[in-house]
Amino acid sequence: MRIKDFLSSTSLDRLDAELILCAVLDVDRAYLTAHDNEEIGDTDSVVRIAKRRLKGEPLAYILGYKDFYGRRFFVDNRVLVPRPETEQLIDLALETKPNLIIDVGTGSGIIAITMNRETKRPVFALDLSTPALNLAQKNAELHDTHGIMFMNSYLLTALEKGISIDGNLTIIANLPYVDREWNWISKEALAYEPEMALYANDHGLDLIKKLLNQIPKINFQARRKSLVLEADPSQHLSIIKYAKNLNFSYIKSTEFGILLTF
Ligand SMILES: C[S@@+](CC[C@H](N)C(=O)[O-])C[C@H]1O[C@@H](n2cnc3c(N)ncnc32)[C@H](O)[C@@H]1O
Repeated sequence: MRIKDFLSSTSLDRLDAELILCAVLDVDRAYLTAHDNEEIGDTDSVVRIAKRRLKGEPLAYILGYKDFYGRRFFVDNRVLVPRPETEQLIDLALETKPNLIIDVGTGSGIIAITMNRETKRPVFALDLSTPALNLAQKNAELHDTHGIMFMNSYLLTALEKGISIDGNLTIIANLPYVDREWNWISKEALAYEPEMALYANDHGLDLIKKLLNQIPKINFQARRKSLVLEADPSQHLSIIKYAKNLNFSYIKSTEFGILLTF
């Protein structure tokens, strides 16, 4: 079967079909366009992967990796599949010029590792899931990071003794924010990912609110203290209102990201 025959006949969505071919043929997407008359040697592998994908398994779990902010990360069912919208948190966090970074709910480690590589600054990477932390550590080794401390922690509890730095502190949190009641999200699409990486009570806001309550109780001393949160766009107004009541200042938002100072 030729590349173009597979792409025109499969019922997979186009991007997934191309990514499967890229993985099996070990080429990039531009190659597929330029060589679409070429025979796919290993059709069996392509068909096997396509079948799993059509049953709903995330492609990142099947291939074992996902690209994020220009780097490739190991991914499996211990962690949330990295989403492109989370790249918005990196852009917001880089604007804060951090000297020290805290990543709450690190999962696969994409935020902690990307921030460490982009800024060369130390990072505390926290998660309540030991299996997730193990995978994040594997990703940190893959990317040859320096200065990331992985800790098992309920939100910021492992750092509750406080931190004092001569520079800027930036806390980044992509915590679970999916409301189980949302009927516009396909539950089948999320069925493979860890529940504790996806869902939160109180309309999806429970953990974000708990974090907002926890931060002022911890003695963080820094020149500037920023908090970057990810949430669904429909949740932004409630979060900003809730944060302002706790004396956070609202700076700006992107579609999925919110930047606050405290
Ligand atoms: C939405 S995932 C984000 C993973 C990764 N940071 C990313 O952006 O792809 C949320 C992560 O928060 C972790 N988590 C859930 N509840 C937590 C809690 N109470 N304290 C710390 N981490 C928690 C989950 O284990 C999961 O890895």
